[in-house]
Amino acid sequence: MSEAFDALKAREQASVMSTYGRYPLAVASAGGCRMRDLDGREYVDLLAGIAVCNLGHCHPEVADVVAQKARELVHVSNVFYQREQVELAEALKATCHMGKVFFCNSGAEANEGAIKLARRYMRTVKNRDAYEIITLTKSFHGRTLATLTATGQDKIKFGFDPLPEGFTTVEAGDIDALGAAVSDKTAAVLLECIQGEGGVKPFPREYLEAVQALCRQRDILFMIDEVQTGMCRTGRFWAFQNYGLTPDVFTCSKALANGLPMGAVLATDEVAAGFVPGSHATTFGGGALVSAAASKTIEIMNRDKLAERAQRLGDFAKALFAEVAERRPGKIAEIRGLGLMLGIELTFPGADVWKALMDKGFVCNLTQDTVLRLLPPLVVEQDDLKAFAEALEAILA
Ligand SMILES: Cc1ncc(COP(=O)(O)O)c(C=O)c1O
Repeated sequence: MSEAFDALKAREQASVMSTYGRYPLAVASAGGCRMRDLDGREYVDLLAGIAVCNLGHCHPEVADVVAQKARELVHVSNVFYQREQVELAEALKATCHMGKVFFCNSGAEANEGAIKLARRYMRTVKNRDAYEIITLTKSFHGRTLATLTATGQDKIKFGFDPLPEGFTTVEAGDIDALGAAVSDKTAAVLLECIQGEGGVKPFPREYLEAVQALCRQRDILFMIDEVQTGMCRTGRFWAFQNYGLTPDVFTCSKALANGLPMGAVLATDEVAAGFVPGSHATTFGGGALVSAAASKTIEIMNRDKLAERAQRLGDFAKALFAEVAERRPGKIAEIRGLGLMLGIELTFPGADVWKALMDKGFVCNLTQDTVLRLLPPLVVEQDDLKAFAEALEAILA
């Protein structure tokens, strides 16, 4: 590592709380699918800030909107009407079957909002004292107290108890376990169609359909976390659209404003009636600047058909990785994913492979110890995916 990197690392350790296992890379600038470090070395970014910069880094059209809004209207407060927020809500509604949107700032905050909405809808619209949220093992829903309780991974809960009541976790993929967990206290089921942090694990269509059917049958809410899967990443605007599902509530964040912090809860008109003025709020939610950036992001995604592109390039990448698996027998256990949400599960712990890829100039992520996770900008080029596959093949030799 360079002197500049070492100096920055030392300053970071002296002043920033130690909550992240950081990669040995300091990013100085980024554009499209490339990042540059402090010494000007270029990397192919196949992570996009963990599914955030779906249009690529520093997209020029989004940058223009941000620059213009920064001089026109940044923040006033949600006590005022703002055209930019309304336009974004309309643009989001046009992507799906939902009736109303609540804006916030992150994925965890969106899920927290969905949990609150489910509880309040049950109490105030359905007149039922139902509050329990059922989630799945290996899920990830965020780091606030409620969302980490909802998350089906014990390692992120350690040291934070007492945790809030009203959450149950059942085995992912087991519809009978889910059915058995539903009681008169259940308000909703919350799941990711493809578990991201859980190792890029898509659920079978039949399971997802069965969960939706169960929710309808037992008159509880079906809620989907689209924080990582949403915004064209999986080949449709929202992952649930790959399966023809119609959740009552879904959440999004990450790529919504292509890098600016933003989250949203979308619900049917019926469920959205669970909130009334004063029941939920957040200072920065849906401010003019981020809303304008998000509207521009959605406009570009639709114009440039990025969902279709994600589908096409995802299929291309999977075929490439399958060839690598064939030429390097015994090294790759499975290639999974949908669109440009891809997981390459190795047959052994992958830290060395992940690091070697970075040394060769390719940034991806390692999850669940053995899974190389790729969440590239949706504008990634075939040549970048080819170069990555070649590097991986060489490393696995
Ligand atoms: C599926 C899912 N839900 C929620 C979150 C939490 O989002 P945030 O980190 O913005 O709070 C994440 C973050 O990785 C996620 O992948």
